[in-house]
Amino acid sequence: CIAHRYTFTVKEVPYNKLCSTKKILTVNGQFPGPVLKVYKGDTIYVNVRNRASENITMHWHGVEQPRNPWSDGPEYITQCPIRPGSDFMYEVIFSIEDTTVWWHAHSSWTRATVHGLIFVYPQSGTPLPFSKPDHEVPLVFGEWWKEDVREVVEQFTRTGGDPNVSDALTINGHPGFLYPCSISADTFDLTVEKGKTYRIRMVNAAMNLILFFSIAKHSLTVVAADGHYTKPLNASYITISPGQTLDALLHADQNPNHTYYMAARAYHSNPVIRFNNSTTIGILRYISSSNATTSSYPNLPNYNDTSAAFGFFTSIKSLYSGKVSVKISRRIISTVSINLLTCPNNSCQGPNGSRLLASMNNISFVTPSHVDILRAYYLHIKGVYGTRFPAFPPVVFNFTGEDQPLFLLTPRLATEVKLIKYGEAVEMVIQGTSLGGGGIDHPMHLHGFSFYIVGFGFGNFNVSQDLSSSYNLKDPPYRNTATVPRNGWIAIRFIAKNPGVWFMHCHFERHLTWGMNVVFIVKNGRGLNQQMLPPPPDLPPCY
Ligand code: C2O
Ligand code: CU
Repeated sequence: CIAHRYTFTVKEVPYNKLCSTKKILTVNGQFPGPVLKVYKGDTIYVNVRNRASENITMHWHGVEQPRNPWSDGPEYITQCPIRPGSDFMYEVIFSIEDTTVWWHAHSSWTRATVHGLIFVYPQSGTPLPFSKPDHEVPLVFGEWWKEDVREVVEQFTRTGGDPNVSDALTINGHPGFLYPCSISADTFDLTVEKGKTYRIRMVNAAMNLILFFSIAKHSLTVVAADGHYTKPLNASYITISPGQTLDALLHADQNPNHTYYMAARAYHSNPVIRFNNSTTIGILRYISSSNATTSSYPNLPNYNDTSAAFGFFTSIKSLYSGKVSVKISRRIISTVSINLLTCPNNSCQGPNGSRLLASMNNISFVTPSHVDILRAYYLHIKGVYGTRFPAFPPVVFNFTGEDQPLFLLTPRLATEVKLIKYGEAVEMVIQGTSLGGGGIDHPMHLHGFSFYIVGFGFGNFNVSQDLSSSYNLKDPPYRNTATVPRNGWIAIRFIAKNPGVWFMHCHFERHLTWGMNVVFIVKNGRGLNQQMLPPPPDLPPCY
């Protein structure tokens, strides 16, 4: 039996990690937060009660929320925040998701500790496309700072530059190392039984890091990504970007008298940028191995192994063929850039109170601060956003970092949306640039849709050469977060059949803060079931 009503009480509780205690924001006191279990086709109601001292909103990442942007969650995009002491009932409609998605807070950097998994099960009578696993294991990757996360945000927005490097990577909240204060290591420990199969449902909830993950001597069979089934893929390691989920089968088929380490570490394509380069570990034990003497370590790719990272991403294929629309009615091309300004004494002004800018098509997105875009759209409130998301600037990048057209160093700070008609077949090409320190990968996430990743390449997406001949239109992966390679591009396709206001942004939290965002407004269609639902009565007020 699965519940359809949940209460999420957001509150601060003390947690001790890395030899120090701090108060963190949690849901119901839990970190990582509770796992929700639903069947495909369910609608659930989650009453979010804010009993903390800062604003909060909740997002259901990977859930399309058909016609229901009111419960999507990004702060000042689809709602005003739930203030301390207030509540809001989210209505979460599961329509097309089949496997694992997740939820997280979507206000400032609160998602650092406010996040959890959602296990989606098939409707009764619908079989799994793989043999039924014996057990399910939630696996949440995260990042931990010893400082208060609000401090991290305050510090990097005030001074410019990158945020402080996190102090640990975590697996289900465990940093995995022996610290001087502790007698035993705070390590994630998974005990398995020989011969059994475990379905690992994982999410990368880290703020700013793409991760490699592997388990010694055990291969993983990836069967789903971002809520949708994939062709089974045997992998000795996986790559997972912030925002992405994966389902993988672990067969406990090795010598039960050994213990095996699992490990995660960052993949990072640009060594100029400081990042957490530690490797965090967890332990896989067999029930009988209490006196195991030998242990094995997994082989992880090097932190800068781009071909390993993208080799994994591009081997993921949808389980199904022939679902992607071959014809498109609109192509949107957008750059994604970090724009390091050369301005003396921190005199630069970025969006959202920061001192650095990131942009899409040379617009650094300014999040509204008094009223959300959805409400402004619905109630025809003027002056909140513009509708001139510009076209791709005619630039062929040489990716040397220098010698870039000057205008790209000075993006416009603005709140611009892109209007799309109901039902359009959209292709979006996202082009990475080398601006701002040589470029880096960007895990781009779209709310309200899953999309097919039909194309991928390094270098320029050259509009005059028809690169679409290299697309996979047969069985491309169906995802909600796609990683644009450093100095390369991806092409995604979706049908705009979900009316509403939908955020798109880089899932590296610092890039989101700096403005690497855009909003799509998909207009209503003619039919009644092609129109946005009405707003809920308890929508948090805006002031
Ligand atoms: Cu994982 Cu805008 O979200
Ligand atoms: Cu980014």
